[in-house]
Amino acid sequence: MKTPEKKILSLICLALSLTVGCSGPAHDNAAASDSSAVTKDSSIISEKNFEGTVNDKAVKLFILKNSKGSQVAITNYGGRIVSLLVPDKKGTLTDVVLGYDSLKTYQKPKEPYFGAIIGRYGNRIAKGKFTLDGKSYRLDINDGVNTLHGGFKGFYSQVFDATLVNGQTLNLNYISKDGEGGYPGALTVKVVYTLTDDNALKIDYTATTDKTTIVNLTNHAYFNLNGAGSSTITHNILKIDADAITPVDTTLIPTGQLQPVKGTPFDFTTAKAIGLNINDKNDQLKNGKGYDHNFVLNKHDTSKVVATVSSPQTGIVMDVYTQEPGLQFYSGNFLTGKTSDGKGGKAYAYRSAFCLETQHFPDAPNHPAFASTVLKPGETYHTTTTYKFSTK
Ligand code: BGC
Repeated sequence: MKTPEKKILSLICLALSLTVGCSGPAHDNAAASDSSAVTKDSSIISEKNFEGTVNDKAVKLFILKNSKGSQVAITNYGGRIVSLLVPDKKGTLTDVVLGYDSLKTYQKPKEPYFGAIIGRYGNRIAKGKFTLDGKSYRLDINDGVNTLHGGFKGFYSQVFDATLVNGQTLNLNYISKDGEGGYPGALTVKVVYTLTDDNALKIDYTATTDKTTIVNLTNHAYFNLNGAGSSTITHNILKIDADAITPVDTTLIPTGQLQPVKGTPFDFTTAKAIGLNINDKNDQLKNGKGYDHNFVLNKHDTSKVVATVSSPQTGIVMDVYTQEPGLQFYSGNFLTGKTSDGKGGKAYAYRSAFCLETQHFPDAPNHPAFASTVLKPGETYHTTTTYKFSTK
């Protein structure tokens, strides 16, 4: 039987869980936490907290909803997915992406890329240098000795012009000026987010340029299929249809080789828990401090599933579709859980999210053997990625 003190404590916890949650920073064994609490936390996101002006442009939060009750909240500041509520196996809406509660926090973040559209170039370019048509370009050095995710003022910190087409589609437009971040040409970018009735979030990217340039756009959602902030992702089950990775040096720049995954911790061709081999002794895992690698996809065709993740706890399954040749699998190795600034006051613990960023290969402009990321005037860059949710 419960003691009176325990009863009082449970009542306080129940009341608190409706607002801020009752547990401290999540750990692996928090995997058993109740996903309905996650729903309540995520629903406290206030549209008002996202109203503001950045770079003289109005910022807002846009909510797309489908007929199944799923919903995605997107801000035009960085084109970021702020929350993504999908049903778990019991039908409870669960927020599967990490994020912050306000525009202010996104402007001074511990983690700058949560949910953002990444441009002009997803992932790293060695030493921030590349040559195009005989001319050398220098980009922002914002990650050790390299450039990462577009530099200091990548798209994650830019304000897109937003048009809500209907309750399920949001158009975002941005013109990146000639020379922005060091990249040549004015780049006109359009990103369309659609939440379909079959619980898929489709992201469609288009870009044109007025000078020859390079482009590699992606989205940097941090997923946790147990629910954002509820546990680490080491028990999420991952399958990637890739027979090789592009191995990296200690600064996470591809060496230029393709390394077969067979017999290594990188073999996700058969589904396995993300944590199963994450701490194995392996040079590539050492360089990445875990998984932080570009997988060379066997198929790249939007009608094919390239990766699937599932949570035994919530039953949520996510299938990824893309025509991009690469997929950056990042296991949240730089999350620290030291600050409680996540949604609903959550502290996002070490490895409490994974990213699956569809892309051309990192540093492709310096590796002629990698698929080209060059875009010329008169050409249209177009790519689509879909994250489709179901349960089992
Ligand atoms: C990179 C990681 C980086 C992370 C930042 C990933 O795409 O590969 O190295 O730390 O983005 O959020």
